[in-house]
Amino acid sequence: MSVRIRRLTPAFAGEVSGVDTTRALPPGMAEDLDAGMAEHGVLVFPGQALTDEQQAAFSQNFGSLEMPSAVSNITKEHERRLGPAMADVSNLTKEHRPFDREDRRRMFNLGNRLWHSDSSFRAVPAKYSLLSGRILPSSGGNTEFADMAGAYDALDAAMKARIEDLVCEHSLLYSRGRLGFEGLTDEERANFRPVRQALVRVHPANGRKSLYLSAHAGRIVGWPVPEGRLLLEELTEHATQRRFVYAHEWRVNDLVIWDNRRTMHRARPFDDVNEVRDMRRTTVAGEEMTTAQAA
Ligand code: OGA
Ligand code: MN
Repeated sequence: MSVRIRRLTPAFAGEVSGVDTTRALPPGMAEDLDAGMAEHGVLVFPGQALTDEQQAAFSQNFGSLEMPSAVSNITKEHERRLGPAMADVSNLTKEHRPFDREDRRRMFNLGNRLWHSDSSFRAVPAKYSLLSGRILPSSGGNTEFADMAGAYDALDAAMKARIEDLVCEHSLLYSRGRLGFEGLTDEERANFRPVRQALVRVHPANGRKSLYLSAHAGRIVGWPVPEGRLLLEELTEHATQRRFVYAHEWRVNDLVIWDNRRTMHRARPFDDVNEVRDMRRTTVAGEEMTTAQAA
């Protein structure tokens, strides 16, 4: 069967049919999907009843897996509900109960409701994220995506020139600090040391430029902090206008893949203290840094 992709918005995001992600792909299909990702930035695959093992295997069609670790979360090894390749994006304890309202893992995970690009706080940030919707709440809990290539194109020439060579510092300290999350241990702070990322990225597959923004971005290198934050706020406001956004309403067993190099995303609210939302993510590692790191 061949891959078919139906556009979900005029500018980006598509829905795929003709692919069974639970099984090994026929020859050439991974390349077709990669080309689809370069064009659309977000691909939705309905009706994929995946096990964690199948999700990890399918993900590896696009590169090596990025493993969740202490650099990316505050969840302790013994608290983990899922295997080592899975990022647990649910609201659940190991015992499959929603986190208490005051649970610091819940408060930390609330950071996913801010617009971000996955693992932009790593020196080599993620390529694709693959999110599988296993159990959904009765309402709310959409995921929204913003097209950062479309947003870049829509900037005026003066702004494009102004930002062309800017470099930002990204860290979980910045994204969690925005929400007033406090009480990180010295060890967690050390794990979350900032990295540098170019503000304008060029897509390796098609040469398109995009804004590389994220809630993790907290400084523009060489600029006074408030001035840098203001520009990042202004660009984020621009890039997340509804005309650049696709809102995904989840159906059970949707698999959604996004290109973190070309999109931002955020989770939308639901009654997470009382309802279950079991979402599991695998992440395909990026291949390169976007800029040199500080010594
Ligand atoms: C993620 C993420 C958003 C959501 O998986 O990286 O940010 O809607 N998820 O759960
Ligand atoms: Mn995310």
